[in-house]
Amino acid sequence: MVHVTRYPTDTPERLAAAEQAAAIQLALGEIVVLPTETVYGLAANALNAEAVSRVFDMKGRPNTNPLIVHVVGWSMLHQCVRVWPEVADRLARAFWPGPLTLVLPRSECIPGVVTAGLDTVAVRWPSHPCMQGVIKRCGFPLAAPSANLANRLSPTTADHVLSQLGDRIGWIVDGGPCSVGIESTVVDLTGETPVILRPGVIHRESIQGVCGMPEIGLREIWVEEEACEGMASPGQFKKHYSPTSPLSVLSYKSETALRQQLLTLGADPGRVCLLCHDILPSSDAFLRVSVVPHDPEAYARALYAELHACDTLRPEHIIVEALPSDVAWEGARDRLARAASDW
Ligand code: TXA
Ligand code: MG
Repeated sequence: MVHVTRYPTDTPERLAAAEQAAAIQLALGEIVVLPTETVYGLAANALNAEAVSRVFDMKGRPNTNPLIVHVVGWSMLHQCVRVWPEVADRLARAFWPGPLTLVLPRSECIPGVVTAGLDTVAVRWPSHPCMQGVIKRCGFPLAAPSANLANRLSPTTADHVLSQLGDRIGWIVDGGPCSVGIESTVVDLTGETPVILRPGVIHRESIQGVCGMPEIGLREIWVEEEACEGMASPGQFKKHYSPTSPLSVLSYKSETALRQQLLTLGADPGRVCLLCHDILPSSDAFLRVSVVPHDPEAYARALYAELHACDTLRPEHIIVEALPSDVAWEGARDRLARAASDW
């Protein structure tokens, strides 16, 4: 695709026009980039197998890694799933619309290409008003992965999308920066007890509380892409969500201790981008210092934008100050662990 049409949404009239234009293209079987509250999505009509297969091609995503189906309203939801257990109802009523994805038995109308041939489907009712508006106008659910190249950083602004996929997409709705900032929490409800497949800002303790269960499993699947066939959530590759520059998470108690660690590792601070939230360096020795708020939700909101900004400077290393160990930070911690490379 040579030319990208970018639809602004900064007035009610422009928002309505953008939703209408996006819905028309989607109904024609086209792919449109849409904002959601988590990250931008590369959307297609979930009921159109041919359109969905083009989403995989555009991202360079292996067809063994299934997509999330986005719905608005209970009747559209019930079209997509074959079974709706009580625990799903509890979670949906607590967290939808919002950054939670539920994996359930798939209904017949969802083509196999969406779910990578699995008998389950991941469904999410997003809260972003523009995404909701487009889905309502379409009248069909939208399959949408994050709008990045496979295994690269997810986009939280329209510009992030354009820098990775600008030569592949035809239409993008600019809904401004995403308010959540990391991908939804994915919970598998097909087994005896719920299992978190991907942590997010809706964390384990909130899910446990709503389910009324003392312990919810977290299925950490740390395998490489090649080994993904047949596993529960093939998207759970260890190497995922990565910036192009090598990234390391370091723990230190002072700036001096950090500088000492960098010296030992042979890193030149002048070629290092630093992402910190607690110990803020006073020196100007670093290539870039990003100060992100010491608050789990604000941190998640800022994380990808800061990593994108670091990446454009092509540093030798991105160093991230280690995050607190409590549960509220588990979504951001998970993304950093996946983005980190061996030194
Ligand atoms: O916040 C989000 O979830 C964003 C926005 C656009 O909604 N979407 C997103 O999609 O992050 P994607 O494709 O980048 O990640 C979907 C994750 C992958 O890890 C995938 O393997 C998992 O959900 N998934 C999808 N369908 C599944 C299924 N049937 N069973 C298990 N895991 C599934
Ligand atoms: Mg993704």
